[in-house]
Amino acid sequence: MTPVPVFVIMFVVSISVVHAGRSCENQIFDNMIDKIVALQSNANDDNKGKDRPAFTVSLTTSEPTITGKVPIKFNNIILNRRSGYDPSTGYFTVPQTGLYHISATIMSRNGAAFHASLDKNGQDIVLMYGTKINGGNESTNIVLELTKGDKVCVKHYISGSEVIHGYGYCYFSGYYISK
Ligand SMILES: *[C@@H]1O[C@H](CO)[C@@H](O)[C@H](O)[C@H]1NC(C)=O
Repeated sequence: MTPVPVFVIMFVVSISVVHAGRSCENQIFDNMIDKIVALQSNANDDNKGKDRPAFTVSLTTSEPTITGKVPIKFNNIILNRRSGYDPSTGYFTVPQTGLYHISATIMSRNGAAFHASLDKNGQDIVLMYGTKINGGNESTNIVLELTKGDKVCVKHYISGSEVIHGYGYCYFSGYYISK
């Protein structure tokens, strides 16, 4: 609780003591308590608790070949609060409008490159490139303003075929920060 409501409680309590028994003061006290309770529930509005959307998923299959500009289907769900991530499509569908932190890491196979993008509603937001050298790793960490129903995925970025290194080395996560 912030210092202001504590002060308000003390102030109202002392008035109530001085004018004990007067229903008007009791009414003021009750109103103050109602306002404090309302302030506290507003603080919880920002989904700091269990219903804040959040997901972490990884690719644990061996080395799948990805052909064309399609989402990478991270098969292994580590966390999926509010069920925004769908492993059958690879998309995170935004359950609640707000500011989100999104991150992803990809690894290319030893000796072959892998191109990916972080895609929002079919648009490439940022690009990732796993180099040909000994399995190249690349990560992205970005903050996005997302609207309920938006679809975000890690997408293969070129039209040909490339192999991605799974085994838990590629992962995708995101969480709601605030309104
Ligand atoms: C990428 O990460 C893997 C696993 O840690 C490592 O074996 C590989 O050498 C890394 N690639 C480069 C280019 O550093």
